[in-house]
Amino acid sequence: MATPFIITLDGPAGVGKSTLAKRLADHFEIAYLDTGAMFRATAWKLGEGSWDWDIDKIEAALKELTFTLTGSGSESVLSLNGVALTNDIRTETVGMWASNFAQIPVVRAYQKIAQRKIGETTSLIAEGRDMGTVIFPQAPCKFFLDAALEERARRRYEQLEEMGKPADIKELIEQIRTRDDKDRNRKEAPLKPADDGIIVDTTNLDIDSVFDRLVAEVKKISA
Ligand code: DC
Repeated sequence: MATPFIITLDGPAGVGKSTLAKRLADHFEIAYLDTGAMFRATAWKLGEGSWDWDIDKIEAALKELTFTLTGSGSESVLSLNGVALTNDIRTETVGMWASNFAQIPVVRAYQKIAQRKIGETTSLIAEGRDMGTVIFPQAPCKFFLDAALEERARRRYEQLEEMGKPADIKELIEQIRTRDDKDRNRKEAPLKPADDGIIVDTTNLDIDSVFDRLVAEVKKISA
């Protein structure tokens, strides 16, 4: 079997990673792995406050969680214990729970094993915070997207509205700022570009321009 081809896409909350990752996955006909959804689903399943449990209890709970990825492109389906994840995990509140969980080394260790296992057999575009730095550092195409906080909050606002989950823009700015600080400053696998990654500031770019740029970079690298 040929070695799976992996593209990594990291960046802070609301930068547009999911939209771009799905489009890239469709374009290159590979699977889409949303690792933020894995952290969100873990937090959602274990429940509010579970990140404060003692480590043995957290580890026992993690052992009961199995993630699988099926399908391809934007139709890729991530499931937890055989049940497809839904938009219930997409709120900013669950994002914050996920960020709390993401600080815990044992949680990251489990996620690392699960994510690498998926990447062993499947060509993917892997979206998250540490895809290029920790999980798939050998990937040929590693991207880091960034954008100004207010612009990211605006994008997230629109995304939540589309899902029928309206939010308050001022509250979103504060929630995203807090989550970013946590994700960038944590000890383990902090949010940052890979040393050999390509950084794209998308503040003043529309989604089509970013997409075209990423496609061109992938083609250049894989030519
Ligand atoms: O991408 P997202 O907003 O769905 O991610 C939710 C949280 O999960 C994010 O704030 C930090 C954590 N996360 C992480 O630590 N590492 C990843 N690879 C993906 C997400």
